[in-house]
Amino acid sequence: MGTSYPLVEKLKILEAVVMAPLYGVVGFAGGLLVYSSTVEGARDLWALDLRTGEKRRLTEGGVHSVAEPRPESHYVIYTKDVSGGRELQSVYAVDVRSGESFALEGFEPKRVLGMGFDGKRVALAAAGDGIELWLLELGGGAEKLYRADAVMFVTDFADGLVVGQGVLKGNPATYELFIFNVDERRFEVYTPKEGSVNKQPKTKGGLVLFATTAFGGEKLALYKPASRELKPVELPHPDMAEYKPVEYLDFGWTDGEVWAIGKREGRSKLFLAGREVKLPEGSVLGAAFSGSKAYATVSSLTRPTSIYEADLASGGYRLLLGAELPPEVSSRLGRSYMVKVKSFDGVEVPTFVLESAAAPKPGPTVVYVHGGPWSEVADAWSVFVAALAALGYHVVAPNFRGSTGYGEDFRRMDIGDPGGGDLEDVVKAAEWARGEKLASRVAIMGYSYGGFMTFLATVKKPDAFDAGVAGAGIVDWEEMYQLSDAFFRRFIDVLFAGKRELQRDRSATNFAGALKVPLCIIHPQNDTRTPLKPVLKYAMKLLELGKTFELHVLPDAGHAVTKMDDALKLLLPAAIFLEKYLAR
Ligand code: 4NP
Repeated sequence: MGTSYPLVEKLKILEAVVMAPLYGVVGFAGGLLVYSSTVEGARDLWALDLRTGEKRRLTEGGVHSVAEPRPESHYVIYTKDVSGGRELQSVYAVDVRSGESFALEGFEPKRVLGMGFDGKRVALAAAGDGIELWLLELGGGAEKLYRADAVMFVTDFADGLVVGQGVLKGNPATYELFIFNVDERRFEVYTPKEGSVNKQPKTKGGLVLFATTAFGGEKLALYKPASRELKPVELPHPDMAEYKPVEYLDFGWTDGEVWAIGKREGRSKLFLAGREVKLPEGSVLGAAFSGSKAYATVSSLTRPTSIYEADLASGGYRLLLGAELPPEVSSRLGRSYMVKVKSFDGVEVPTFVLESAAAPKPGPTVVYVHGGPWSEVADAWSVFVAALAALGYHVVAPNFRGSTGYGEDFRRMDIGDPGGGDLEDVVKAAEWARGEKLASRVAIMGYSYGGFMTFLATVKKPDAFDAGVAGAGIVDWEEMYQLSDAFFRRFIDVLFAGKRELQRDRSATNFAGALKVPLCIIHPQNDTRTPLKPVLKYAMKLLELGKTFELHVLPDAGHAVTKMDDALKLLLPAAIFLEKYLAR
């Protein structure tokens, strides 16, 4: 045997991937560009003076969520976890000019489900006694406006209207809008068409702009609550034909014109009033506008999330905030592409592949299962995917049925069947990788819903994978339901379409005896979305059954990873485990 320590070298590469700083546009406040950055080790808020280039750090230790700023206000509103990762959050305002911040009083820490800031007051939804709508004053004073017993999020607040979306008519397959008129203290549920999906309402001057399937496909529409008028919004652009069905990632108004991020086949583009704003290829994840410039968050599977400045007049762009990957990392990332993998019933599963330049073909491969489940792996930076490829594993990331990005019909396919058809899709991804001679041995790995799929796949499809890495996973839906808060109980009801009897069948704990492959379990101690307790019981079962497994609990950490140290602590055990059980 040699005297070098290849594992130690690999762990250094892993650290370099995790520590690559990420930047994202938040918006404009008080004349400054507000952005998020992980450069100091946690996702914090910063402000940039575009004239002088001066940067100011606004928060420390990581923020949980941030409301869209208002250019006319000097304050940025954000939440911070005050519960050791249990996701109970307080709300703060920071003055971008001085960097001074203060807590908004009268609001006990809660799980916050979306915020809007009208420049003076904050409206938010939070899990408490059911889902509550709150109005907070910057100068103190907090009022509970409304209470509902439904999955519900606030997405915007302006000119006296708080708007959001939710499962508000009891149909798990639809989202309706809600419009709360603050002056009249009146809550209205709105849908343009029964059975349609309506999302991400933005409001301004008494108008509501939102994404809807009411006209077929994914379209934008404008609704005027005062007169109950509704009309579709056209975003004519030559590329729009190609961009069908378009899924709107984000959109809004600037100077009266509508801007939108349209998405197709895992890539997205920014449009302003129907014109494409030229940016690098990949995914546009957010944007803000000032004068003749656009500021956009852009990344790809091989380029970390950065901020670009685009000149709307000339069509040129430049990198404003972002860092190159160190060469020892970028040289290990190979080709990325999308394939459509045909599933058992003919459904085509859009699957991203990131090959490792540090692995042979066929070589060790990881099927990476994203969380959500209403989320996706796009051609966008994912620290898990990049880390695995840099470590020397080809990565195959299926956007199983239920994923976002491919239209609402596809997203809704897992409702009432989590761990059913979607699990088959994930197994097909492994078969594809072997069939294409990309994969020698195949592990399954995922976090959250991806951890759930890992636990379930390794017992229900015991021959499909050679090893599993389950982060923050779910092994027992029945016990988890009992441990969940008002929001996650309703969330689980929606996901299962109320079929409680299905929960038993979709819980790995009831099939533990079937586990055949080594399993690495990694779980945050204070996770309140996917609690640790059922996972510890599962580990005890595995111990009694004599299974090969390892268990890593992350102390003082919760489900949402905002600190780079915690991201590294999640990935280190996975890297060591895969080296032993997959790479050989
Ligand atoms: P995620 O976490 O994958 O990070 O979004 C989840 C937490 C809970 C549930 C699903 C996913 N749930 O069904 O309760």
